[in-house]
Formats: sequence, structure tokens, C-alpha cells
Amino acid sequence: MENFIYNNPAVLHFGNNISGEIGQTVKKYGDKTLLVYGTGSVKKNGIYDIIVSELNKNSIEFVEYSGIKPNPVIEDVYKMIELGQKENVNSILAVGGGSVIDSSKVVSISLLEDLDPWMVVKGKLKPTVSLPLVTVLTLAATGTEMNAAAVVQNKKTGEKIGFVNPLSYPKHSFLNPEFTFSVPENYTAFGIVDQIAHALEAWFANGDSTLADRFIASIIIESMELAPKVFAEPRNYEYRSKIMLAATCALNGITSLGRKYSGDWGVHDIGHTLSFLYDTPHGASLSIAYPAWLKLQKSRIPDRIKKLGEFIFNEPDIEKFISKLEDFFHSVQSPIRLSEIQIEENELNNIEKLMNKNSVNGLVHKLGSNDYNELINLMK
Ligand code: NZQ
Ligand code: ZN
Repeated sequence: MENFIYNNPAVLHFGNNISGEIGQTVKKYGDKTLLVYGTGSVKKNGIYDIIVSELNKNSIEFVEYSGIKPNPVIEDVYKMIELGQKENVNSILAVGGGSVIDSSKVVSISLLEDLDPWMVVKGKLKPTVSLPLVTVLTLAATGTEMNAAAVVQNKKTGEKIGFVNPLSYPKHSFLNPEFTFSVPENYTAFGIVDQIAHALEAWFANGDSTLADRFIASIIIESMELAPKVFAEPRNYEYRSKIMLAATCALNGITSLGRKYSGDWGVHDIGHTLSFLYDTPHGASLSIAYPAWLKLQKSRIPDRIKKLGEFIFNEPDIEKFISKLEDFFHSVQSPIRLSEIQIEENELNNIEKLMNKNSVNGLVHKLGSNDYNELINLMK
């Protein structure tokens, strides 16, 4: 087992009776907040009204920034910083999924010291303070509500990259599973794929931690068992709450206790390339990249892959395990090949070029430029 420090300061409020705590929590940080949300779902499903009523009830002034899109872009982060500085806000209230929360995280650690947020994302500038961030999660998937990571893309530099900074932890995150009832089928599926992918990334980090192995397998099995249930009954509280908890636990640090890194993250790096080039939803990029990566790695790390197959599907045969994983992704209508998302042969060169430019890689199981072509052939 590897040495480690575990300190997760995010306070989680979980349940269907927590909305009344949002206003008083934001109020702890001051009387004026920057309310951030996405492209409109919160207005349709009533969450916006609940939030505004909470803010009004607690006499909190707010300025709004909306329109954060899936696969969020750094341009919005610059504009949010400008607005937050001009309005002198005391906190950020992010209401949405990973895209809204991640953009708000970058704002939170750049605004007070007036740092260039892209330089912060790249790790070239080191923030020392953060503006308090409170989140209301509306989509179970990324785990961002209880971790210090954020992912944004920059069209100019050709990158979609993630970074981790302990100052990015939300102070409080509110998880009401009822807020996820309205998530459409496709994003419900992509969320489930994403949480499974986080558990898989953790499986392939180095360090022998059998307890972490068991946490990981439990999260994957729980997610796979719940998937058909939540599709059959999207407004079932028990199913939505169990999916939500599994998503949080898949990336809040418990799956990497006793390991050197939180995960390998090579598959995420491949996925980010697809999302950058084709705006592929994050989960969909991972259901395409994971089977290909496993096929590439099966002769390099057969024991680890075999053990995973045994844990999840009671399947010691590696080929059959990968095929069962593909079947699961297909069962939730998440693509497993580039052709399923209309990326054809003439595009493959562009994928390889961008992978080379950004040196797509994992932290543990290194990928060389020789591997890119093989991975793309396995994904096509
Ligand atoms: O734009 P809005 O109106 O918010 O609609 C969103 C969006 O269209 C919609 N949605 C969210 N909650 C809803 C809802 N629709 C109806 N009812 C609701 N309750 O769902 C769509 C997708 O939203 P998005 O926030 O993009 O999804 P997700 O939570 O999957 O976040 C994906 C982003 O997070 C990054 C990904 O790379 C991607 O950019 N990740 C962040 C991580 C982290 N910070 O730890 C780790 C992950 O690996 C991931 O990379
Ligand atoms: Zn992910």
C-alpha cells in the first residue's frame, strides 16, 4: 500500500429535505453571490425558482451568469470573473452538473487574486485563496461536488484539460436526488458511464489496496444494477439517490485510498480529445475509449484486467469481460465505436494529430505515440 494523506473538506448535504439549508449556507459567506447555471434546464424543472426563493428568503443579493455549455469553455470563465469582480460578490453558487460546477471552481480560485484562469488551469499560476463555492448538483456523474478537480476547454490552444487544486473543493454541496428526476435518458446514461469510468481509472492506479479494490467493484456493480431500474422509473427517488451517491463516491477520494494517484486517467485523456474535436458528451467519449484502452492493455497488464473481470462480472476471461463491458454500455445506449457518433474514416487522422499534439497519456500505464493509431483503430 502507498502512503497517503486524505483530507476532503467538502460538506455534503444529501436528501430531499435539504433545499431549506441552501440560503442560510450561502449567507455564511456574505450578502452577495454569483449565481451560475447552464443552458436552461434549471428554469424548466423549477430548480431555479427554488434557489431564487432561498436567496430572497435570506436577503442575499445575487447576480446571474448563465449559458455554461456541456464541455465548458474558458471564455465563460473569463466573463464570470469580470462580472464577479465588478459586482464584488462574496461567494459563488453553482447550480448544475459538472460543466457549471467546474467553470465555477476555476472562477473561485482565480477571481480574488485576479489570476489568468487559463494559466491557473495549466498549473502555471498558483492561487493562494479562493472565493467560497457552494454547489447544488443537478446531475449525477462527475463527482465534482466532492472533489478538487475541474475540466475546461480552450478552443484557441486546442485543449480540454483537467486540473486538481485543493482550493477548489466546494465549501458545501447540496445533493437532492429529486433534482435529477428531469435529467434526460442520454445524460443519465452518460453520467452512469462516467461514474463507472472513474472507478475503472482508480482500479488502474498503482499501489496494492485491496480495500480500495472492493470499494471500486462495489461502485461499478451498484451503478450497473441500478441503470435499468432508473431508465424504467426516472422519477424513482430510491434509484436516483443510489445512483447519485455512487457517482459522488466514485471520485471523492475513497477509491484511491492506499494508492499513489486517484487513477490512471489515460482513458479520460483520450475522451477529452474526442470531446474537444466533436463536442462528444463526456460519458459517451468514455464508453468509446474504455473498451479500446482495455484491448490495448490486455497483454501488458493481464492480471489486473482479469481480476477486474472476476470482481465485476465473475468473468475471468479477458476478452469476454471486455465484451460484457461493451454490452453494458450499449444497454444504456452509450456508444462504443466512433462510427456510432458519425465519426468516419476521414476524421481519424485529426484525432491522431491532436493526441500527438497534447501527448495524451495516463499517469501509470504510459501511452506512446505508437499506441494512438492502434487505439483509434480499436475505437473506430
Ligand atoms: O445546460 P444545462 O441546462 O445545465 O443542462 C445540462 C446539460 O445539457 C443537462 N442537465 C443537468 N442537470 C439537469 C439537466 N437536464 C435536465 N435536468 C437536470 N436536472 O445535462 C447536460 C450535461 O450537463 P453537464 O454539466 O455538461 O454534465 P456532467 O455533469 O456530466 O459534466 C460534464 C463535464 O464535467 C467534466 C467533463 O469533462 C465535462 O466537461 N468532468 C469533471 C470532473 C471533475 N470535476 O471531477 C471529472 C469528470 O471526469 C469529468 O471530466
Ligand atoms: Zn469522467
